[in-house]
Amino acid sequence: MFTHRRTRNSTKVYTPLALRLYDFIVLRLLNRYAWGCSTENVLLPFFKAYVGSEAHLDVGVGTGYYPAHAISRLAKTKLICLADINPTTLQMAGTRLLEAGYKGELRVVEHDVSNPLPSSLNTSFDSISLFYLLHCLPGTFPEKAKDVLSKLVPALAPDGTLYGATILGKGVRHNWLGRYLMKLYNKKGVFGNAEDTEEGLVEALDRYFDDVEVAVTASVALFVARKPRFESFYRKT
Ligand SMILES: C[S@@+](CC[C@H](N)C(=O)[O-])C[C@H]1O[C@@H](n2cnc3c(N)ncnc32)[C@H](O)[C@@H]1O
Repeated sequence: MFTHRRTRNSTKVYTPLALRLYDFIVLRLLNRYAWGCSTENVLLPFFKAYVGSEAHLDVGVGTGYYPAHAISRLAKTKLICLADINPTTLQMAGTRLLEAGYKGELRVVEHDVSNPLPSSLNTSFDSISLFYLLHCLPGTFPEKAKDVLSKLVPALAPDGTLYGATILGKGVRHNWLGRYLMKLYNKKGVFGNAEDTEEGLVEALDRYFDDVEVAVTASVALFVARKPRFESFYRKT
């Protein structure tokens, strides 16, 4: 399978050791002190708010923190599908969800978001979450987000919701720690968001949805998109 060099760098970092540190360093410290968007107060409540009761797809699972901590909302969701390019993250996230008490159907799929979804994901998901994945991908908004959305939207139910969060590179004020990490991570290809703007994200979401909301908290854009425009897949533009 072809993957861009920088895409691979943004997945190579998720080794078993890095994943053991991820929740503390990224979710507890960096989200609050570098990106200004608290996991406990903003991102986790946001994740919980839009999970559907039939089928949920989480794309770019990391350690599986969000689904496991949203178990009170996800417990009744009949199907949860975890998709990620990295088998190590999938293993950890899947195990964590089951240990949190999930009893429904769990599907775990190794998948690169730059490719069309595998047929095993050909289900109508009533919610798809995309947390902290877009800023890892190479390229710029709106094109890179359009590319990902074009692969995910067909899996959404007509009344489904796609939502997520991404760290922006431009048009937001990063503090000194954020600026330092932006530079380092973009140089190493862990992030690919130096040119990502809120306007570019909105443009990409508008291409595929009739109902789009984007709110920026410090340097993080939170987005909710509803009313997928399935007809856009049959148009050439
Ligand atoms: C920064 S982590 C985010 C984890 C989690 N969603 C969170 O917010 O804590 C990015 C995740 O996206 C995955 N990922 C990166 N590039 C990907 C790609 N091209 N296709 C699928 N997953 C990818 C990584 O393996 C990793 O699990």
